[in-house]
Amino acid sequence: MKVRKAVIVAAGLGTRMLPASKVIPKEILPVVDTPAVQLIVEEAVASGIEDIVVVLSPGRTLVLDHFRPAEDLEEHLLRKGKHEALSALRTSSFAARFHTAHQHQPLGLGHAVLQARERIGNEPFGLFLPDDIVDAPRPCLRQLIEVAERRDAPVIALLRVPRSEVSKYGIVEAKPMGDRLYELTGMVEKPGPEHAPSDLAIIGRYVLTPDVFELLAEGKPGAGGEIQLTDALLGLAKRRKIYGYEFEGVRYDIGDRAGYVMAQVGFGLKRPDVADRLRAYLEQVIAPKSRMGQ
Ligand code: G1P
Repeated sequence: MKVRKAVIVAAGLGTRMLPASKVIPKEILPVVDTPAVQLIVEEAVASGIEDIVVVLSPGRTLVLDHFRPAEDLEEHLLRKGKHEALSALRTSSFAARFHTAHQHQPLGLGHAVLQARERIGNEPFGLFLPDDIVDAPRPCLRQLIEVAERRDAPVIALLRVPRSEVSKYGIVEAKPMGDRLYELTGMVEKPGPEHAPSDLAIIGRYVLTPDVFELLAEGKPGAGGEIQLTDALLGLAKRRKIYGYEFEGVRYDIGDRAGYVMAQVGFGLKRPDVADRLRAYLEQVIAPKSRMGQ
């Protein structure tokens, strides 16, 4: 298989990030100075994706506006000789083609993915949940695509999480195959710790095959009364082999308040224009406390 298309689900209400997400879609909230969705598109393009379908909820078109050229602003910056700002502005234009699909009612992640069916057609595709930002030596989606193309099968990103946190995720039952790879034999959406089949959680990067749309179209509500992607994937696992891959990289959940702040620190420490002052500041605020604890 060859993966050329990807879906970005940007239709969530962002309730965990209110009040910031009241007016601004959470996907536009910046990590340092870069909207989360731009980091996702950068990962998609670096993974070889050519066509991107963005699933939006009604009226939340700002996410796409970010990728439109801003000619007046460019001209202004050029006239003023503000080349650094100009090049920062231009990093938001990409080689990929953008398409949209709309989710008119918040019926769940599975339902949101289903809205991209027509745009994707009969091809395998990458799927991004933009709450999950992955800082990785090789783009996270690329890691999955390599496995998917080799195995000719769907692949899901996996991360080991503490048992106390399993109820926040889809959790898989998995047979280890070595080299970070697992064959998935079961999965359950947001189980209680006593029902979780493992501590391997699904993270928001997937390579899926178009047969998943048939299962999503059956539209049976699952956990939380929503149409769950995890339930469709479980159905798919009964029909064909599905794999999980424990990706290399650091994942931040920026849909969560603490995760959002951690992403600012993690990415800030990697930015030459920010790192020194940020590190000095962190040492200053943290050191006195840890000394007290000694
Ligand atoms: C979604 C998926 C879940 C997955 C999680 C990863 O849940 O349904 O299986 O573990 O993303 O971030 P959500 O966070 O949208 O509730």
